[in-house]
Amino acid sequence: MPKVKSGKNKTIDISLEEGQRYLAGSVKIESQSSLEDILDKTILGDCLAVMSLLPEGFADLVIADPPYNLDKDFNGRKFRKTSDEIYADFTESWIKKVIPLMKPEASIYVCCDWKSGSVIEGILKKYFIIRNRITWQREKGRGALSNWKNGMEDIWFATKSGSYTFNVEDVKIRRKVIAPYKVNGKPKDWEETGSGNFRNTYPSNFWDDISIPYWSMPENTAHPTQKPEKLLAKLILASSNPGDTVFDPFLGSGSTSVTAKKLRRHYVGIEQNEQYCAWAEKRLEMAETDKGIQGYSDGVFWERNTSALQKNQSKTK
Ligand SMILES: C[S@@+](CC[C@H](N)C(=O)[O-])C[C@H]1O[C@@H](n2cnc3c(N)ncnc32)[C@H](O)[C@@H]1O
Repeated sequence: MPKVKSGKNKTIDISLEEGQRYLAGSVKIESQSSLEDILDKTILGDCLAVMSLLPEGFADLVIADPPYNLDKDFNGRKFRKTSDEIYADFTESWIKKVIPLMKPEASIYVCCDWKSGSVIEGILKKYFIIRNRITWQREKGRGALSNWKNGMEDIWFATKSGSYTFNVEDVKIRRKVIAPYKVNGKPKDWEETGSGNFRNTYPSNFWDDISIPYWSMPENTAHPTQKPEKLLAKLILASSNPGDTVFDPFLGSGSTSVTAKKLRRHYVGIEQNEQYCAWAEKRLEMAETDKGIQGYSDGVFWERNTSALQKNQSKTK
């Protein structure tokens, strides 16, 4: 008997025929391309080959989530854990291809875990100005019997030059005020609302407000390392402007392109796996009508587990 999906399970699940139709929405690039050929497209291919064929200086922002230095099966294509030296060579080979595609004022974010992070840092500092390292508390990971469970990931933030975009006001976090302080009877830097007391705070480089996508979220796919749209929304809002172009050479299930589209940016993504390209295209189609990003509403990011409060606040506006 086929498994029946619970009504609350929103995981994107497409048939073979549907998959073929969505896959046809992606493109292959086999010769030098123009911006028109690639803008707002999912490119099916190996980024190491494809990047040499892309137009120079098209990207305002690069978000790269490469395979970490771990054994991982990406739908049949296995990435094998290797030495730091070989992983460094792999990293340098794709970074060198990304650089000419970036505008002089562009920024780059590279995702990693605690182990691959030091390798990535070493390569990034050869070519960029490193600005920060964000730590995302991922709140999920397999228990380890003889070690600490890994519950975090890092994201290196670097820029090509001293001139770059950083829209700090667009990435504030709405937190519940625990001890509401008043001066002359008036809230000091916080707001009193029907659903509680809140303060919008400046974001730090420690992110503990983002869950990984799970089955009841409409963005969820079966990709083994899918990044949450909320995480990408922070990077995109801070480091690009509407109308800019966001490039992801390791697109996976499409999270970067989908979030860029929802936030009125252009996007270009490369992914080597057909199944993942089909999911990306399906999600891009869904983003035509659903611009929602879980955990981001009214222009602010909300703490974890505040969806009921978010809905109440939106209603009272
Ligand atoms: C860590 S995952 C990215 C997940 C993605 N951020 C998401 O939210 O779905 C890395 C992706 O890179 C793809 N990949 C690995 N090597 C590649 C290559 N040389 N060219 C293009 N894609 C590649 C894998 O198939 C995998 O989907």
